[in-house]
Amino acid sequence: MAFFCWLSLLLVGFLLMAQLVVAQQDDQSSMLALQKELLVSGWGINNSDYCSWPGVRCNSNFSMVEALDLSHRELQGNVTLMSEFKALKWLDLSYNNFHGPIPPAFGNLSELEFLDLSWNKFVSSIPVELGSLRNIRSLNLSNNWLTGAIPDELQNLESLQYLQISGNKLSGPIPYWVGNLTSLRLFTAYENDLDGKIPENLGSAAELELLNLHSNQLEGPIPESIFALGKLEVLVLTMNKLTGILPELVGNCKGLSNIRIGNNRLIGNIPKAIGNVSSLTYFEADSNNLSGEIVSEFAQCSNLTLLNLASNGFTGTIPPELGQLMNLQELILSGNSLFGDIPKSISRCKNLNKLDLSNNRFNGTIPEELCNTPRLQYLLLGQNLIRGEIPHEIGNCVKLLELQLGSNYLTGSIPPEIGRIKNLQIALNLSFNHLHGPLPSELGKLDKLVSLDVSNNQISGNIPSALKGMMSLIDVNFSNNLLTGLVPNFIPFQKSPNSSFSGNKGLCREPLSSSCGSSFGPDHRPYRHKVSYKIILAVIGSGLTVFVMVITVILLFMIREKQEKAAKAARVEEDGTINPPLITAGNVFVENLRQAIDFDAAVKATLKDSNKLSSGTFSTVYRAVMPSGLILAVKRLNSMDKTVIHHQNKMIGELERLGKLCHANLVRPIGFIIYEDVALLLHHYLPNGTLAQLLHDSTTRTDFVPDWPMRLSIVMGVAEGLEFLHHVAIVHLDISSGNILLDANFKPLVGEIEISKLLDPSRGTASISAVAGSFGYIPPEYAYTMQVTAPGNVYSYGVVLLEILTTRLPVDEAFGEGMDLVKWVHGAPARGETPEQILDARLSTVSFDWRKDMLSVLKLALLCTDSTPAKRPKMNKVVEMLQEIKQI
Ligand SMILES: *[C@@H]1O[C@H](CO)[C@@H](O)[C@H](O)[C@H]1NC(C)=O
Ligand SMILES: *[C@@H]1O[C@H](CO)[C@@H](O)[C@H](O)[C@H]1NC(C)=O
Ligand SMILES: *[C@@H]1O[C@H](CO)[C@@H](O)[C@H](O)[C@H]1NC(C)=O
Ligand SMILES: *[C@@H]1O[C@H](CO)[C@@H](O)[C@H](O)[C@H]1NC(C)=O
Ligand SMILES: *[C@@H]1O[C@H](CO)[C@@H](O)[C@H](O)[C@H]1NC(C)=O
Ligand SMILES: *[C@@H]1O[C@H](CO)[C@@H](O)[C@H](O)[C@H]1NC(C)=O
Ligand SMILES: *[C@@H]1O[C@H](CO)[C@@H](O)[C@H](O)[C@H]1NC(C)=O
Ligand SMILES: *[C@@H]1O[C@H](CO)[C@@H](O)[C@H](O)[C@H]1NC(C)=O
Ligand SMILES: *[C@@H]1O[C@H](CO)[C@@H](O)[C@H](O)[C@H]1NC(C)=O
Repeated sequence: MAFFCWLSLLLVGFLLMAQLVVAQQDDQSSMLALQKELLVSGWGINNSDYCSWPGVRCNSNFSMVEALDLSHRELQGNVTLMSEFKALKWLDLSYNNFHGPIPPAFGNLSELEFLDLSWNKFVSSIPVELGSLRNIRSLNLSNNWLTGAIPDELQNLESLQYLQISGNKLSGPIPYWVGNLTSLRLFTAYENDLDGKIPENLGSAAELELLNLHSNQLEGPIPESIFALGKLEVLVLTMNKLTGILPELVGNCKGLSNIRIGNNRLIGNIPKAIGNVSSLTYFEADSNNLSGEIVSEFAQCSNLTLLNLASNGFTGTIPPELGQLMNLQELILSGNSLFGDIPKSISRCKNLNKLDLSNNRFNGTIPEELCNTPRLQYLLLGQNLIRGEIPHEIGNCVKLLELQLGSNYLTGSIPPEIGRIKNLQIALNLSFNHLHGPLPSELGKLDKLVSLDVSNNQISGNIPSALKGMMSLIDVNFSNNLLTGLVPNFIPFQKSPNSSFSGNKGLCREPLSSSCGSSFGPDHRPYRHKVSYKIILAVIGSGLTVFVMVITVILLFMIREKQEKAAKAARVEEDGTINPPLITAGNVFVENLRQAIDFDAAVKATLKDSNKLSSGTFSTVYRAVMPSGLILAVKRLNSMDKTVIHHQNKMIGELERLGKLCHANLVRPIGFIIYEDVALLLHHYLPNGTLAQLLHDSTTRTDFVPDWPMRLSIVMGVAEGLEFLHHVAIVHLDISSGNILLDANFKPLVGEIEISKLLDPSRGTASISAVAGSFGYIPPEYAYTMQVTAPGNVYSYGVVLLEILTTRLPVDEAFGEGMDLVKWVHGAPARGETPEQILDARLSTVSFDWRKDMLSVLKLALLCTDSTPAKRPKMNKVVEMLQEIKQI
């Protein structure tokens, strides 16, 4: 008996072992085949135990692959083999270069719970076989090139909690059965071509917390049912064709923090029940046909940060209760039919950053208290019926960047206190009012102001020569007033068109054709006038293009610098010793550098000007020698918006993700330090400086001219880095030769990528208005689109190509008034110049081959800098073209 037992135990053991061995062999051969196919770095190098390969986890039998995480590895190849891992529960292939259709055989992975194929180039339709993944809880197919309809077979995925199919080209309707996925918590399908109605029963998905369907072609009403169960937290339906009302039932969702329903065709009132949505943080319903009054119940949503009701049919007055909203940052009500007073109570909104009431029928006065709001940057009250005087207290709005009061019924004189608003930058517009009295000379203190418009008032007296203090002025309009005397001798004035001063009977001297006093006659003036007109056109052409964003950035930079100085002053004791500040957060992402990096030493290095390596639009970089001997480049963010710091965890998350973003031509952060409101990013120190220094710094390299092969390989590397960035959907904010760093072998690395991620204006992380770039690299369309785009990056890259070809700076007085490098090169044929006169002759005359290459790259550069964004090639096309040039 005992023997029998023993025998059967042995037998069972043997069977189990046999099974184990078979299983192991199964996944082993597939893993080896997969390694051959994908060439994953680190796989199989030292051992054949695939369970210990990076990104692989086996189950407790140590035999079968249970989880595969191959995200962010630039992989491509055939992934069909993965369908053979019968025990696979977790498969993450996100952020790679996989293309072709999603293998239908994935439907065989019956144990799969998590499938993430996002950020690849998978094409064709979603395979119906995925409907067999009965255990799947999270399915992410977002950001691919998938087409066709959402297959009905997916309705079998009853355990699905997370369904992400956004950022594809899917068409057809959202299937009714999505509402039957009873466990669904998150559903995103934004940025597709979906049409039809939002299924009425979507609310039956009882757990639904996040629904994001923006940028589709959806029509019909917002189904009431989605609010019925009250779990919804985020609702984003912007940019569709939705009709009907915002249902009263919205009040059910106490936890709803985000309602974004702008750019639709919604009608009706905002329901009073909105006041029950106690978590409401963002409410954005602009560009609809909403009507009725602005309900005072908004005041109960104490966390409300943004309220945007612009471009609707709202009427009535602003409810004074809104003054209770202590977290309100942006109140945007422009383009409605609102009237009455601007309530005094608004000044109690201590966090108000933007107040946009323009284009309404407000007929009260500007309350004196308005500037008690300490953070106001945008005060936009133009195109109303506002009466009374501009209060002297306007001078308390010291943070203002833009003040728009044009086209109202303002009377009295311009308060000299406006001169106290030293930050005023974007515009001061007082035009089309009934202002009289003199121009206060204090306006001359506004040395950052770019645009001044006081036209169409009854302003009298001289134009004070103190206005010459407005050193940033580009755009000026004094026309149609009662001004007299000489136009002061000041370049921005003389460069302005005649029309900027016309309609003032008593005003004379250039740019006006009326001279002063006796010698009025047919002298050389008409000719000179023509010349200045040409200059003006050029200035307007290039000047307007850049001014808004450059100015915003410069402003942020200056604010920063000031704060920096103040902070430094506080920190450096009289005897020169430096007190290190209290570091609140910090991390080093690279394991083997942790020991070598000392946070205090890094911070101290940034407090000494002698360590400064460079300063760019967004940051200042310092060289920091660690006690361990390691040298770091420490980047201190200049324009770090407070809102970013406030979202510290999000920021840290982004940095950590970027730390993993692996490409040989990108500078990745290796860590960060945060103290007070300062963020420092840590990078490897690259000894060869920037491309700008290599090309233009004649002081350090008088006899060294980088040769053509080196230049070609640099532009190639930069193109590859940018192609990768665009592939992972990051648009660079500031491409310039100053942001291209060179390692010891002159391999280029594109820097400042984290800035693009931290200050992402397109995704609207609150109130960030820093759309930017460096002078000379900014594509013309940014001036009116105010949006950073991939084609815009291609333009800036084209400027870098031109720099490499010509060894000239993107902006240089030598090109002539209003000209930059791009215009100079594009204008060469019209001036009858040959390419030889454009290219750097030290290179183009060396050999026939070099010259041929340079001409091909010149052609590419002209394409990249085309003024029409759509005509510019995509970055991957640029890489292809460069590869062809390199091979020939
Ligand atoms: C392979 O082994 C060598 C020597 O043992 C080691 O230095 C190296 O890091 C190992 N490589 C991998 C990928 O594990
Ligand atoms: C080990 O593998 C066997 C055979 O594949 C399977 O039946 C068993 O459930 C596995 N055990 C665990 C803990 O996964
Ligand atoms: C991928 O590999 C499978 C076999 O593993 C093969 O059937 C399929 O045709 C391959 N797909 C492509 C696109 O090469
Ligand atoms: C895997 O899927 C393919 C295509 O769906 C099917 O033909 C094949 O029989 C399946 N293999 C297994 C082992 O289930
Ligand atoms: C894909 O979606 C899942 C579930 O929502 C999520 O956990 C995962 O992070 C997403 N992948 C990426 C790359 O964002
Ligand atoms: C979906 O749910 C509704 C009830 O909410 C039910 O009538 C219908 O039959 C379900 N459809 C499927 C395909 O399960
Ligand atoms: C809002 O809350 C009030 C009182 O808390 C309640 O009487 C009212 O019914 C609620 N409205 C909605 C739509 O939930
Ligand atoms: C407001 O926001 C804070 C911080 O996010 C949160 O703790 C609080 O619960 C919110 N208040 C309401 C009423 O939701
Ligand atoms: C403002 O306009 C409203 C509506 O047209 C009107 O009723 C009110 O009397 C006006 N107020 C003043 C002060 O003119």
